[in-house]
Amino acid sequence: MTALDEIKIGGLGASRRRVEDNRFIRGKGNYTDDVVLPGMLHMEILRSPLAHARIVSIDASRAWQIPGVHLVLTGEMMATRNLAWMPTLSYDTQAVLATDKVRFQGQEVACVVADDPYIAKDACEAIDVEYEPLPPIVNPEQAVAEGAPVIRDDKEGQAGNVIYNWEVGDAAGTERAFAQADRVSRLRLHYPRSHPSPIECCGSIADFNRATSKLTVYMTTQAPHIIRAAVALVAELPEHMIRIISPDIGGGFGNKVPVYPGYVCSILASILLERPVKWIEDKTGNLISTGYARDIYLDGELALRDDGKILAVRMNVDSDHGAFYSDAQPSKFKIGLLHSTFACYDIPVGHITARGTYTNKAPGGVAYRCSFRVTEAMFFQERMVQAAAQDLGMDQAEFRRINLVKDDEFPFRTPFGFLTDSGQYAKCLDVGLKAIGYEDFRRQQAEAKARGRLLGLGISTMTEPLGAGNSREYDILGIKMFDSAELKVHMTGKAILRTGAKTQGQGHETTWAQIVAHELGIPAEDVVVEEGDTDTAPFGMGTYASRSTPVAGAAVAMVSRKIRAKARRLAAHLLEVSEEDVEWELGRFYVRSAPDRGVTITECAMAAYSNMPDGMEPGLENTAYYDPPNLTWPFAVYIVTVEVDPETGVWDVLNMVAVDDCGVRINPMIVEGQIMGGLTEAYAMANMQFITFDDEGNCVGSNYMDYLLPTAWETPGYELHSEVVTPSPHHPIGAKGVGECAAVGGPAAFVNAVMDAIADTGVRNIDMPLLPDRVWEAITKRHDVSGAPPVRADD
Ligand code: CDP
Repeated sequence: MTALDEIKIGGLGASRRRVEDNRFIRGKGNYTDDVVLPGMLHMEILRSPLAHARIVSIDASRAWQIPGVHLVLTGEMMATRNLAWMPTLSYDTQAVLATDKVRFQGQEVACVVADDPYIAKDACEAIDVEYEPLPPIVNPEQAVAEGAPVIRDDKEGQAGNVIYNWEVGDAAGTERAFAQADRVSRLRLHYPRSHPSPIECCGSIADFNRATSKLTVYMTTQAPHIIRAAVALVAELPEHMIRIISPDIGGGFGNKVPVYPGYVCSILASILLERPVKWIEDKTGNLISTGYARDIYLDGELALRDDGKILAVRMNVDSDHGAFYSDAQPSKFKIGLLHSTFACYDIPVGHITARGTYTNKAPGGVAYRCSFRVTEAMFFQERMVQAAAQDLGMDQAEFRRINLVKDDEFPFRTPFGFLTDSGQYAKCLDVGLKAIGYEDFRRQQAEAKARGRLLGLGISTMTEPLGAGNSREYDILGIKMFDSAELKVHMTGKAILRTGAKTQGQGHETTWAQIVAHELGIPAEDVVVEEGDTDTAPFGMGTYASRSTPVAGAAVAMVSRKIRAKARRLAAHLLEVSEEDVEWELGRFYVRSAPDRGVTITECAMAAYSNMPDGMEPGLENTAYYDPPNLTWPFAVYIVTVEVDPETGVWDVLNMVAVDDCGVRINPMIVEGQIMGGLTEAYAMANMQFITFDDEGNCVGSNYMDYLLPTAWETPGYELHSEVVTPSPHHPIGAKGVGECAAVGGPAAFVNAVMDAIADTGVRNIDMPLLPDRVWEAITKRHDVSGAPPVRADD
């Protein structure tokens, strides 16, 4: 017998079909809303119609009288249990139900629990709330203006609307570099608010059992163990009496990381009523009140030498956090990993100042398919790089090539202190340029221009930090960021694997089994993967920021290696040789001097329960906690060509090429799916999607008529390239994260392409989304077009 064929058993590199799809396409998924418990009641939330107002009174007497109503919760009642406010993941507080003021449109004011959701909804409408309107604030400029009302007057010592001022980098060194520059390129941008908008909204079913004192919560969370800790702290329940179950999740994208008032209220309602209470958010509730992303303003400058070398970068960013600072991000960093910007370029020095402000908008800052603000970081970077090349009159690709980090410079210290692990940036760029037919397109572009047609090409090159921790640097509210895997190999060689991550559509059930197959030779189909139940899964920080493969995936490899080490001892016992004489090939141990004499991993598994050597603990199970030594740094090149119609401002994608180097690909088909999904989100952000606000703080975009999701009809085709593979030097199987790369790096490629097409107008920027009217305005009026709120109410 020889080693197993890794691809045949579904190991690394196998484009194995997603096992979870079997139940999803049959309609047999088990989402939170599918869970029905005996005696279950339903909860609905009453939301504020105003963005900023003092609450004069709340009269719920009419609601209480409606037959079928069991409970009406208000902020006042929550306050009696110390639950009117809760801590956020960024050391701020957030109202659960408003007591004093409402601070954004859609804020939770009261909850009704009833026999069915319709009664609960009707009863919400029967609650009379008297508001005294206050002036609303919808952008940072208004927030810091003289005389602006203080939004967070609930906070002792909070005089204005500034949350923080933060800086990173070398201010003096940057100043010196700018003084020596031949030229300075400047750009002002706004990355608009966007919303992860998963198809499944948020929801929870709390089930408190007084007899056992156990609270079970089924809920849409990407991080069940963090929620368990939060519930223990907020509701003061003992942690071992809390079980969080995160069943199938219909997309998370960061939206399902925070703790939302609906979760807390359903838990309290269940404790009070001693019955299961279900809360399922509707689409408007999701879009108007749950975790937003982005909403950052940039003043960026690059110090340049005439030969194209970037000498320094300076960025000044203003972040609009909404009414509560609730970013889910590593505690040490006020504005996430924004300072990962320019990590793929060899820039000696840089300085960033960041200011965060409160506004009358829903709290934001979730890592929407992004490692804590890296989407903004890479968008700003790539827009600034294009503008700089243009200012120098240099070719876009050549400018990047001059400044990209070279292959032999890794590990490379970035201008803001990160250490990137590996990459072949120039090679990826070459592959992308060849695929798009760069030189040829530039010729076509010039010819088209002569005939009045506007063609453009946009490039985005980026690396991003994926896989927080390590635990030295990364924690959330003091809880260190690492992850875990537990593997139990049964006596017949079949196995069950549990991790501290939580899949939301990424295919962990498929890919984790492939890692086990690679390490142990147990066919992937013989490994069941379970995630999301805190009573059974080992402790982990959950899935967001593409951290699963870098951290939990590494833990899967490490636990498999622990199992293999024990199996080796069992094999030596079965083969009656010493351990040192035993060799491993995929799926089998054999005697080095007699390769025909061997035992399979399945035989070792049986021996672990039936024929272990004297003194050996029975069983073949283990757990690994993995604390990564560094982040993984995938690299990507996205290149788009477009044609802009000068008469209407409508732009069409002609071609899009993506070259992703995410190290070793566990499942190439799943990786391609991740990239296509990310590019589609990038296209949506660049082309059609935004949630904005009018000057009264009304949210424009709280439904799918206004907040557009691209369908197959609008979505362009993509050409994906996988030929560049630079393994991560510190990940046990050389894999890097990939889930969010395309959503992070993609938007700049689309915007750069349109800006390239209209370069002759002299316009430096159009804010996303590049709606036809904005592009048309830029072409005809020849000025930059801002998309920052407030917009006119009829926009
Ligand atoms: O944390 P999240 O699962 O969102 O992101 P990820 O770690 O980048 O993984 C997304 C999906 O792609 C998972 O199913 C991974 O196992 C898979 N993947 C892969 O097959 N090879 C890689 N090098 C990276 C991810």
